Amino acid sequence: MPSKSQRNQKSPARVKSQAHHSKTIRETRAKYSASSALEFPEFSIGQGKLVRGDCLDVLRALPRDEFVLAFTSPPYLNAINYSQHVEKLKGRTERWERESVSYDEYRQFLVERFAALFDVVKPGGYNIVNISPVAWNGERTPLSFHFVKWMEDIGWKFREDVIWEKSIARDRRSGVLLQHPYPGYYYPSLVAEYIFVFQKPASKKDQENIYWHRSPEEKAKNKLDLSAYQGEMSKNVWKIRPLSPQDNLHPCPFPLDLAERVISLYSYADDPVIDIFAGSGQTNLACERLRRRHVGIEIMPEYIEYALKRLRAQIAQTKMF
Ligand SMILES: C[S@@+](CC[C@H](N)C(=O)[O-])C[C@H]1O[C@@H](n2cnc3c(N)ncnc32)[C@H](O)[C@@H]1O
Repeated sequence: MPSKSQRNQKSPARVKSQAHHSKTIRETRAKYSASSALEFPEFSIGQGKLVRGDCLDVLRALPRDEFVLAFTSPPYLNAINYSQHVEKLKGRTERWERESVSYDEYRQFLVERFAALFDVVKPGGYNIVNISPVAWNGERTPLSFHFVKWMEDIGWKFREDVIWEKSIARDRRSGVLLQHPYPGYYYPSLVAEYIFVFQKPASKKDQENIYWHRSPEEKAKNKLDLSAYQGEMSKNVWKIRPLSPQDNLHPCPFPLDLAERVISLYSYADDPVIDIFAGSGQTNLACERLRRRHVGIEIMPEYIEYALKRLRAQIAQTKMF
């Protein structure tokens, strides 16, 4: 059995693979980082704001190394055509169809945006992403697993994988086995999504600055309530009920409980938090409730309007008590 020091010695293959990895990171980041002088409509609200635009352009106009935490759920390939969903909301169309987009175009869309996000997150800060396999051309595509590799190539360090268990199945896949009770007919109903935790690499000093070396007063003010911690929260399967369609006008919001859990575990009060695909503004809303500063970027004006309405209601309610 090799000793610890022998195990830690880099083999020529490992050195070569690391060199290749660093080159891939450099190439990916160089390809996608550029600056932009565009301006975007901004809507200040409470401790934060919503910005309308393509997050790629908006991110390029934001200051570097600004955010302690990013939390988002990106569009899942072509699962939802948001423009048509908005047309449906306005009663201008009955149904929406999937957009035609190639997997490679989609990969590039995400890589460009998460590379631009890398630049605005502080070293040692976290990027937490809710993403799942998707149905694509009649097959399940392991999008979430490819996504981890794409993020590593940008330079994000993989830290944790959490399964968000939704308990309610919206599909009828498991019924196939009831009709055909034989081996080879197992299609479980899909009740889980992934929450991946990535970190922007930092020197030890930077990490200490972000999380460890907060003042005793700040730590006391941000002490977590661990009364529920011995249960499911201490494990990497989180059981959180999804929203039902009547709870939120957006076609795929994540629950406020999920956003609040992520934000309270990875940021302190008044820290700046960003969501680059803000949708109905659940991250902004959770930040407002937890007193974090927040920036949400969203391309569709109708979702921005809806997010602002919900944030205004939250702020009015807080003022009442
Ligand atoms: C999965 S949804 C996010 C839902 C959000 N987490 C919530 O709880 O409401 C993805 C959102 O990204 C938005 N979007 C798509 N492309 C975008 C882009 N290039 N820049 C900013 N937002 C974009 C869509 O309009 C959609 O609202």
